[in-house]
Amino acid sequence: MTTTSPILVTGGTGTLGSHAVPLLRDAGHEVRVLSRHGRAAENGVSYVAADLLKGEGIEAALEGVETVLHLAGGPKGDDEATRNLVRAASRAGVRHLVYISVIGADRLPVKWLQSKLAAEQAVSESGIPWTTLRAAQFHDLTLKMVRGMAKLPVVPVPGGLRLEPVDSREVAARLVELTLGEAAGLVPDIAGPRVYDMAELIRGYLKVSGKRRPKLPVRLPGKTGRAYRAGENLALEGSLTGKLTWEDFLAEHAG
Ligand SMILES: NC(=O)c1ccc[n+]([C@@H]2O[C@H](COP(=O)([O-])OP(=O)(O)OC[C@H]3O[C@@H](n4cnc5c(N)ncnc54)[C@H](OP(=O)(O)O)[C@@H]3O)[C@@H](O)[C@H]2O)c1
Repeated sequence: MTTTSPILVTGGTGTLGSHAVPLLRDAGHEVRVLSRHGRAAENGVSYVAADLLKGEGIEAALEGVETVLHLAGGPKGDDEATRNLVRAASRAGVRHLVYISVIGADRLPVKWLQSKLAAEQAVSESGIPWTTLRAAQFHDLTLKMVRGMAKLPVVPVPGGLRLEPVDSREVAARLVELTLGEAAGLVPDIAGPRVYDMAELIRGYLKVSGKRRPKLPVRLPGKTGRAYRAGENLALEGSLTGKLTWEDFLAEHAG
């Protein structure tokens, strides 16, 4: 789909958004970014302040927009924020709504993932032609998590927890391709090139950062622990696989 109207990127200032926005610009599109903090326009990108959770400023951000790439999200309330966006987008006559969700949103008994699933449902039931991509945990978030754990004198290592972290640049590139195409519904997931257990992820980080820490095996309790140990957060067969590994990312960001 080519469009002369601006593409609205919610959360365009975040980790994922800051990779997606320049790619849309490179493809020749005018971009409008929605987040809670506005700023002056630059390089063909305008920034509109709106709060999706409070439902403030959304109508103005959608003026003249036909395509929305919805990336804004936080630790909670993505369902409510997405419902607010969808209502306004529907009234504004948006013709393609693209959403980023998380692998396992439909399989893990975790509150914020249940809210991602409810957000997915708001998108698919909106009446607006839609595309949703579920991604694995980004390297960026994995690094933040492992860094936090390595600040402790003894690093807890949850047994049986596996991740297949993916590079947010590769997720952004896939989202841009989807945004510029026709609405495709729920598309194959995207995950990183390898599955790691937590001990490997932590070991990789400690190695590049020149740290040594004793490790303490711990067990994730309850049904959440069981679901993670069963791999419900991992991509299913038929998923897309990024090329950039955890080791590649560490070499760039944690050396
Ligand atoms: N991180 C991961 O590993 C991962 C994996 C799979 C999927 N995802 C999904 O990918 C999306 C982007 O993740 P990210 O890591 O790029 O997040 P991020 O770096 O935390 O960025 C979040 C963005 O959303 C905006 N935002 C937050 N709350 C808002 C609100 N109430 N109204 C309007 N804008 C709001 C933020 O800007 P302001 O603070 O200025 O409002 C920022 O631009 C999220 O939907 C997340 O669930 C993430």
